[in-house]
Amino acid sequence: MNHGSTLGAGVRTGPARAIRKSRWPARLDWMQSVSGLILALFMWGHMFFVSSILLGKDAMWTVTKFFEGYFFFGRAFPGLVSIVVAVVFALVIGHALLALRKFPIDYRQYRSFRDHANTMHHGDTSLWWWQVVTGFALFFLASIHLYVMLTRPGSIGPYGSADRMWSDIYWPLYLVLLFAVELHGGIGLYRLAVKWGWFAGAHPDAARRRLKTLKWALTVFFLALGLTTLAAYIKIGIEHAPNAGVPYTPAWAQTPAVK
Ligand code: HEM
Repeated sequence: MNHGSTLGAGVRTGPARAIRKSRWPARLDWMQSVSGLILALFMWGHMFFVSSILLGKDAMWTVTKFFEGYFFFGRAFPGLVSIVVAVVFALVIGHALLALRKFPIDYRQYRSFRDHANTMHHGDTSLWWWQVVTGFALFFLASIHLYVMLTRPGSIGPYGSADRMWSDIYWPLYLVLLFAVELHGGIGLYRLAVKWGWFAGAHPDAARRRLKTLKWALTVFFLALGLTTLAAYIKIGIEHAPNAGVPYTPAWAQTPAVK
């Protein structure tokens, strides 16, 4: 009987090949985790950059111009921002594609999951469900935002962003996007920490409780920061509405200089 032969380096022939488990599910899982981790870390940076408006219009203008290469090349290239957005967009799409494998595909699968979850009353299982729901919402919400950032990078700035929020009525989108992304990212990081055993010591249960507290603290912090930032842009947007579309120029860069 032929049980198959090994040709070296794990390559098998014959019937034994059929029982060899594929490594792809594990690889795809790893890729999903890593892309999620990169996006979560990106989001932390993003929230701080966007919230520079809380330090004033000049601060946000400086951050914007920094990413446009103004301080390196002596003039702004908004296309540089588009390149970064394209990379982030590709990561988001890849991450979403990988996540699709985990979505319940029909009502029966969904019912079966809900029934199990309800009987178990397991907090982490409910968290997973919230990640699915917010992830689904992000498909649409993040796409709109990223498309605008990709195609209109030059419009980013203290007035441009504030006008978008208020005069172009993007604030409802940002409000829902903020909650969706903060919940999704917070739960995602927590589940990754549990899965990869970060901070797990001799007492896994205690570690998990600590992680959960940290997760909520981070979510509350970023939600508070995001809401304050949103309010700041809306306030500027209302004040600037009569001149919507006119970009911000710091006083020192105006000609003739404004005293
Ligand atoms: C490189 C990619 C990105 C860039 C350049 C970018 C840039 C910006 C900018 C400039 C704003 C201020 C409002 C505006 O000008 O319209 C903003 C707000 C926001 N962005 Fe992004 N963004 C990016 C990716 C993302 C992603 C992937 C998400 C979430 C999935 C996201 C979520 C948000 C949220 C929730 C707000 C509102 C912030 C707040 O309320 O504090 N952004 N983004």
